[in-house]
Amino acid sequence: MDILIVIVACVIVLSARNVEARTGHHHHRATKSQCIQYSAISCRAHSASITDFGGVGDGVTSNTRAFQAAIDHLSQFELHGGSQLFVPPGRWLTSSFNLTSRFTLYLHKDAVLLASQEESEWAVIKPLPSYGRGRDTDGGRYISLIFGTNLTDVVITGDNGTIDGQGQVWWDKFHKKELTYTRPYLIEIMFSENIQISNLTLIDSPSWNIHPIYSSNIIIQGITILAPVRSPNTDGINPDSCTNTRIEDCYIVSGDDCVAVKSGWDEYGIAFGMPTKQLAIRRLTCISPTSAVIALGSEMSGGIEDVRAEDILAIDSESGVRIKTGVGRGAYVKDIYVRGMTLKTMKWAFWMTGDYGSHPDNNYDPNAIPVVENINYRDVIAENVTMAAKLDGIAGYPFTGICISNVTIEIAKSSKKLAWNCTNIAGISSSVTPTPCALLADQGPGSISACNFPTDSLPIDNVEMQMCSYTIEQP
Ligand SMILES: *[C@@H]1O[C@H](CO)[C@@H](O)[C@H](O)[C@H]1NC(C)=O
Ligand SMILES: *[C@@H]1O[C@H](CO)[C@@H](O)[C@H](O)[C@H]1NC(C)=O
Ligand SMILES: *[C@@H]1O[C@H](CO)[C@@H](O)[C@H](O)[C@H]1NC(C)=O
Ligand SMILES: *[C@@H]1O[C@H](CO)[C@@H](O)[C@H](O)[C@H]1NC(C)=O
Ligand SMILES: *[C@@H]1O[C@H](CO)[C@@H](O)[C@H](O)[C@H]1NC(C)=O
Ligand SMILES: *[C@@H]1O[C@H](CO)[C@@H](O)[C@H](O)[C@H]1NC(C)=O
Ligand SMILES: *[C@@H]1O[C@H](CO)[C@@H](O)[C@H](O)[C@H]1NC(C)=O
Repeated sequence: MDILIVIVACVIVLSARNVEARTGHHHHRATKSQCIQYSAISCRAHSASITDFGGVGDGVTSNTRAFQAAIDHLSQFELHGGSQLFVPPGRWLTSSFNLTSRFTLYLHKDAVLLASQEESEWAVIKPLPSYGRGRDTDGGRYISLIFGTNLTDVVITGDNGTIDGQGQVWWDKFHKKELTYTRPYLIEIMFSENIQISNLTLIDSPSWNIHPIYSSNIIIQGITILAPVRSPNTDGINPDSCTNTRIEDCYIVSGDDCVAVKSGWDEYGIAFGMPTKQLAIRRLTCISPTSAVIALGSEMSGGIEDVRAEDILAIDSESGVRIKTGVGRGAYVKDIYVRGMTLKTMKWAFWMTGDYGSHPDNNYDPNAIPVVENINYRDVIAENVTMAAKLDGIAGYPFTGICISNVTIEIAKSSKKLAWNCTNIAGISSSVTPTPCALLADQGPGSISACNFPTDSLPIDNVEMQMCSYTIEQP
């Protein structure tokens, strides 16, 4: 019903403008207005274009002030129907800007946000409380390009518009150890709820691409992420201490994990104590030759639970699903369900690492042992794989309840490695080729469906989108 009404409204606006153009003073000038429609968790009563605030899309002029002025102005509508900011075709150079609540940022398909390469333009903010320090350096970190904190109802979308992180200068500084602070991410939303990030292309991020943290009710859909496969730490999507998230229809080529599920680092993450849970990942395509398709950790000190991944396609990636943890992390990785993976050219189909190391400082608790349990992988076809699996738990604290069923892995003819190498784990298997390690006790072919996958849906699956519109007037 709502959808129909909004579409009709869009058409009426269009024809009214056309009439005006034909009968008004300016009928000698061809005026055309274009109605843009997009789906979103909520539509907005007020609209503006970045050009209304002095924005210049020439690829040279800085638009940082224009973006911040536009959003500061639009924030007055937070309690009056919300607002949308339209970014027309052009190359919009900008440094970081902060979002507001009940707000939509919409990028036209030919709009490119170009992240400033000028380090001095980036504000430095405090480390994340669950990390205790920056990921690249001790101390603070550069604010992300598109940043929001303590917000509700935020949409970042577009008709596949582009956000270009221009990361090369940051990668060079990182390699030369010239950075004073941790590199910025492209999008970071903290302490927020009801977030949609959809139908955009993100390229060459200085570091991580999309980082929702301490947030809930998040939809990430139709995102293309592209970065050179050797670029440092260009993780795709990192849900971090988040509840109720769905990531769907994304295509990621990057230099680090395509999706990295996180929840804080050692003693800082344990003290903060906020897990990532209720996460669905569907229809993900990943190319990441040196990293995982889906990583759980390594920062998982608030816990990771109830992750459901299905319909995953990976080409030329290091590992399928990877659990990364170690002594000092504490917390748990549990109730992980994966089904329907097609993997082509991989080093490992499955990988679990119980001695990941990488500590924020030397104050981690050597008695903080992570618990890894109830890990389910089923319906997997893999080809050209070097090793089927390397599954290493922690001595004295095995990873338990591992279930692998209905899996066919074709080992590359050139591989001379052991197909399965398991230490400090326990679990079962059924209908797995090649024959798994003895620690995964074979239940026989009758148990081909042995590994669980939840049949209920997550609350985020019940969120319905509306059809929203924006009318552009082009002189
Ligand atoms: C993304 O774009 C597709 C069409 O390309 C459209 O069907 C879909 O509704 C859009 N989704 C969102 C969440 O914007
Ligand atoms: C954006 O938010 C951060 C964190 O709250 C703050 O440090 C920064 O000053 C804000 N930037 C602007 C331009 O208001
Ligand atoms: C944001 O929310 C967090 C958690 O509720 C709170 O600790 C923090 O003070 C809030 N920050 C602002 C700027 O309101
Ligand atoms: C969006 O743009 C990227 C980069 O040009 C392209 O690879 C991708 O196929 C586009 N997605 C859609 C849905 O058109
Ligand atoms: C198999 O994997 C190797 C790398 O391990 C790669 O060089 C080769 O091209 C792959 N073959 C096919 C048919 O994809
Ligand atoms: C086994 O996995 C394949 C996909 O790899 C799937 O098509 C098939 O339905 C699965 N079989 C069972 C019994 O679940
Ligand atoms: C199996 O894994 C263990 C633990 O990582 C390692 O020490 C051992 O060398 C591996 N064995 C083979 C044959 O690769």
